Amino acid sequence: MKRILLTALLATSPLVLQAADEASDPMAARNAEIKATIQEFAGNLKGQLQAALKAGGPVEAIRVCNQVAPQLAAEMSERKGWSIGRTSLKERNAANAPDAWERAVLEKFEERKAAGEDVQAIAYAEVVEGENGAKEYRFMKAIPTGEVCLKCHGAELDPQVTATLDALYPNDQARGFHLGDIRGAFTIRQPM
Ligand code: HEC
Repeated sequence: MKRILLTALLATSPLVLQAADEASDPMAARNAEIKATIQEFAGNLKGQLQAALKAGGPVEAIRVCNQVAPQLAAEMSERKGWSIGRTSLKERNAANAPDAWERAVLEKFEERKAAGEDVQAIAYAEVVEGENGAKEYRFMKAIPTGEVCLKCHGAELDPQVTATLDALYPNDQARGFHLGDIRGAFTIRQPM
């Protein structure tokens, strides 16, 4: 009786099946942990952004992006022992500029979007040999431009937003985006 119940459970629970996959496939486990980490990063940022927008409007919220985003990336990188960040072909903060590998992946993401792929689902992973010969696992996931993003990355910005951004980011390239564009990507590097 017990055995039959367990079999039924295994067959019907996607969670159990996923756990079994991850146990037998280290890459699946790696990707699952990366995806969960990106979800945590994105969720935390979006939560803080929306709270700041509600409390003080977009000018106040710029502070969240300016201070909290890099802080959170650094904190999570330290906790995980990976490098976790965001990048873009048109970056606001020069510190987020893509390296050659990231640039090539971002360009490929634009091609995949143009070919009709859903931006939400666009991601790429590769084992890359670093300069010192050490292998690392690199993962990127596209970030779509949502409605709320347009307040600070759109084509028409509030003049106060423009002034605040100009003061903080004299070389800002991250304006003029439209709903559904690829705003950038989460980027992760792990030692193999
Ligand atoms: C209140 C203004 C504001 C809003 C709203 C906003 N951002 Fe940003 N965004 C910024 C600022 C400021 C930075 C620069 C952060 C830094 O210095 O690292 C930034 C940076 C980024 C970056 C890192 C790459 C780069 O350009 O430097 C990405 C990716 C990004 N934003 C995506 C989004 C997405 C997606 C949304 C909507 C969910 C969004 N942003 C909404 C202000 C905003």
